[in-house]
Amino acid sequence: MNSKAIAVMASGRGSNLKVILESVAAGECPVDVQLVISDKADAAALEIARDADVPHIMHLNPKDYQDRAQFDAACADLIDHHGCQWIVLAGYMRILSSSFVRRFRGRIINIHPAILPAFPGAHAVEDAVSYGVKVSGCTVHLVDEVLDGGPILAQAVVPVLDDDTRDSLHARIQMEEHKIYPATLKRMMEDGFSIIGRKVIWNS
Ligand code: GRF
Repeated sequence: MNSKAIAVMASGRGSNLKVILESVAAGECPVDVQLVISDKADAAALEIARDADVPHIMHLNPKDYQDRAQFDAACADLIDHHGCQWIVLAGYMRILSSSFVRRFRGRIINIHPAILPAFPGAHAVEDAVSYGVKVSGCTVHLVDEVLDGGPILAQAVVPVLDDDTRDSLHARIQMEEHKIYPATLKRMMEDGFSIIGRKVIWNS
């Protein structure tokens, strides 16, 4: 297995996928994006993957599968078939089944648009604005069975302004996401980490 080979799973506009591919092309991020999977046929992420000549690009329609576990098993088989060591979630909007998480334990990474453990779930940015927090940000974390609950690899903070809307705050958060996601992948490849309890200890 190629230890730098990654599969990216994305459902939406794919800006994180784009910056990862750009960092790879610039020689700044030593991963090998072998596979991009989307559950949405019209995801811009698929177009971004095509433009960057990712070797394997797949759309899988959840409606073609009996249940979540079967859909996830099909994704997992593709990931193994293409020899991917890591699974990078980049705006992937489906909750992963526990069988998928078990199969790739410690090898699935996600980015979440809040400072976890505050504001887990699908409406993190909106929730932060409504709550009235003065700072928010983003978290890169390992995925386990708890939604947005796995060990934390990296975080970045942004201010929340009085007149922020969900979109204006999200735009500010995404500027940080686009820095810390490729940087964290680089660090994972070059330095590595171990996990003690729920704490990630970087090797450098
Ligand atoms: C990001 O804000 C990420 O934190 C969240 O989904 C969004 C994906 O954005 N998980 P994009 O599709 O990479 O632009």
